[in-house]
Amino acid sequence: MKVFNIGIIGLGNIGLEVYKNIKKNSSDIQKKTGFKLNVVKVSAKNINKKRGISLSKSVLQKNPFEITKDPKIDIIVELIGGADGIAKRVVFDALKNKKHVVTANKALIAKHGDALSVLSEKYEVNLLFEAAVGGGIPIIRSIKQGLIANKLHHIYGILNGTTNYILTEMEQKGENFSNVLKDAQRLGYAESNPTADVDGHDAADKISILSSIGFGTKIINKGFLVEGIRNIEIDDIKFAKELGYKIKLLAIAERVKNKIKQRVHPCLIPFNLDVANIDDVTNAIVVDGQPIGRTIYEGPGAGKGPTSSAVISDITSIMLGNDEFSFGLSPSSKKRMSLFNFSNHQSKYYIRFLTKDVPGVLAKITSSLAKNKISISNLLQEPSLKGTANIMLITHNSKELNIQRVLKSLSKQKKFFKKIVMIRVRDFKKL
Ligand code: HSE
Repeated sequence: MKVFNIGIIGLGNIGLEVYKNIKKNSSDIQKKTGFKLNVVKVSAKNINKKRGISLSKSVLQKNPFEITKDPKIDIIVELIGGADGIAKRVVFDALKNKKHVVTANKALIAKHGDALSVLSEKYEVNLLFEAAVGGGIPIIRSIKQGLIANKLHHIYGILNGTTNYILTEMEQKGENFSNVLKDAQRLGYAESNPTADVDGHDAADKISILSSIGFGTKIINKGFLVEGIRNIEIDDIKFAKELGYKIKLLAIAERVKNKIKQRVHPCLIPFNLDVANIDDVTNAIVVDGQPIGRTIYEGPGAGKGPTSSAVISDITSIMLGNDEFSFGLSPSSKKRMSLFNFSNHQSKYYIRFLTKDVPGVLAKITSSLAKNKISISNLLQEPSLKGTANIMLITHNSKELNIQRVLKSLSKQKKFFKKIVMIRVRDFKKL
C-alpha cells in the first residue's frame, strides 16, 4: 500500500489540531483513500513548548527548510501564516522541491497565488488551499469541481467571522464597537492586532481568491474598495433595524460585462435577504451562475476544528490523485481582467450625520444632495441631545461618484458635521 508522508510546518492552534485529527482518523483516511498517511516531520518555532502531545525527537524539526527538501516527504502542510516572510519561502521552496503543498494561508495565496500556481504546474504537484476561505466550508472545491459546468457571474457573502461576531453582538447587546472588540479579543475571536479582520483585509484576501477561481481570472488583490466596520455605531444598527435592515460586512465579486466588480464593505441588507440571518462567527457564501442558479454555503468560517477539516480534505484529495488545478484551470488559461470603475457603482445609500442642532444644517445636506443629483427616499432626525442631532437618510438609487462628492464637501464643514457615516444598501431580495 502506498504511504503518503507529510511534513507539517507551523505548530500553532491549527497545526496541532491537524496533527491530532490525522492521528485520530488515520484508519478512516486509509479506508477512504486506500492509502496510508504518515506525519513524518513537524516543524515549530519553539520545539520545546508543552503542547500536550508526545512528539518524538525524530519527528520534531526546528528548521522548516530541512523538511521542504526531505526526499521522504510527499506533501508539505504550511500553517505558519502571513503573506511574506517564512511562509512564502517555505511554500516556494516546497513546490520547487516537487512537494505537493496544502496551506490555510489566504494572505499568501491572495498575494502570490498566481506565481505559486505556475510553479505547481511546472513541477507537476498540487497546491491546495481550501482552508484559506470559509474555514470548514468546502467552498473552493464546490466552485472548482461541483460547479465546474457553470459560468459564474456572482459570488458574495460573509467571509469574516470576527466582524460578523462584532456586528451581531453590537446588534443584540447594544454594546459599542470598541467594547465588543475587547470582548472578542478576550474570547480569542479577534487578534490582539485586529486590523486584518475589522478593516476588511481578511475578507478582501478571501474574495480575491474566490473571484479568481470563480471567474477564471488572474488574482485581483489590490485597487478595489476595502472598507471595514470601525466606523459603525449602535445608532446605525438601530436606524437600520427600524427600516427593516441588518448591517453585515459583505465581500462581493461580480462579472460585469468584461470587468470584475470586486469589493468589501459593510452593507445594509433587508432582513429577508439570504445572508441577513447569518450571525456570530458563521460565514456564508452565495454563488450564482448558469445553469445552476443560486447556491448558498454556510458554516463555521474559522477555528481550529473547521480549518483542520479543510486542510485534511486537501491532503486526502492529493492522496486520491485528484490532479486539480489550484484555481480550477491551468494558470496559462487565466485571463487578466480589469476592475470595474467603482465610481460608476449605483445603489441606495444610507447616510447618518451627527450634526450641531442649529438652523440650516438640514438645508446644507439637502442642497449638497440636490447639487449632486441625489434624491432622498427616507429621512429621519432624532430629537436633539446636548445640542447635537442625528440625521439619517436613505437615498434613491445614486451613483457612488456623486455620493463621494457630497461626503467630501460636507465633511469639510467641521463646525456643523461631527461625524458622517455612509453605508451602501444592498436592497434586492434575489440576485
Ligand atoms: N480571522 C478570520 C475570521 C478567520 O475572523 O473569519 C481566519 O480566516
